[in-house]
Amino acid sequence: MTAFTAAFAELSPHERYKLLCASVVPRPIALVTCVSPEGVVNAAPFSFFNVFSEDPALIVLGLQHRPGNRPKDTTRHIAAAGAFVVNMVDEALVEAMNVTAIDFPPEISEIDAAGLSLLPGLDVPVPRIAQAPFALECRRTVSMAFSATRELLVGEVLRIHARAGLVDHSNLRVSMSDYRPVGRLFGDGYSRQNERFDLRRDSYADWAAKNGSPTKNA
Ligand SMILES: Cc1cc2nc3c(=O)[nH]c(=O)nc-3n(C[C@H](O)[C@H](O)[C@H](O)COP(=O)(O)O)c2cc1C
Repeated sequence: MTAFTAAFAELSPHERYKLLCASVVPRPIALVTCVSPEGVVNAAPFSFFNVFSEDPALIVLGLQHRPGNRPKDTTRHIAAAGAFVVNMVDEALVEAMNVTAIDFPPEISEIDAAGLSLLPGLDVPVPRIAQAPFALECRRTVSMAFSATRELLVGEVLRIHARAGLVDHSNLRVSMSDYRPVGRLFGDGYSRQNERFDLRRDSYADWAAKNGSPTKNA
């Protein structure tokens, strides 16, 4: 295969999706819980997701509408209730996560269908998934509609929960070998994070001592 380049203006949305989803990898998976106006707990995974900042503590979610511009249940419920929980996905939770992605009718709780259980939220009136390694209780900050079918939701994290054994209380370090997070690649592809490595960052002085003084680009 030779080198490839393409102007996005000349690609169809589907082609852009293929290239973006396969190149920006692995993406973390937010298994989002929220509550319908009727009180049914909804759960669905989102990998157009990341943490954005820590002060304020913000996360972002890319919410895509269904065909016919119908917002997903998650989009509608968060807009109405203003609160949700991001449950992180690890190896133990990934199969249940996949069940929650099925397009169930709104009156069916994905939680029951996936065999998951819930614990109450402390700062938001939304339960979290008991099996999740981490859960972030969030308040909706703002959502921006970029087209009739795409919304970017920003949420502020009010509280974090971690399963026992994951966070060292004395220094807040997370045990990656116990966490075992799963990343989304594209299509049905996922990745485990089991080949980690450390890369120490030099100070400029250390770098210059090893490499000599750099010359400026002309
Ligand atoms: C791993 C994974 C990641 C997903 N990421 C997204 C996403 O970022 N945005 C989106 O709109 N849908 C995403 N989906 C699809 C939704 O989870 C799916 O449409 C779900 O049925 C929505 O449920 P809801 O109607 O209860 O909100 C993803 C599905 C999977 C399996």
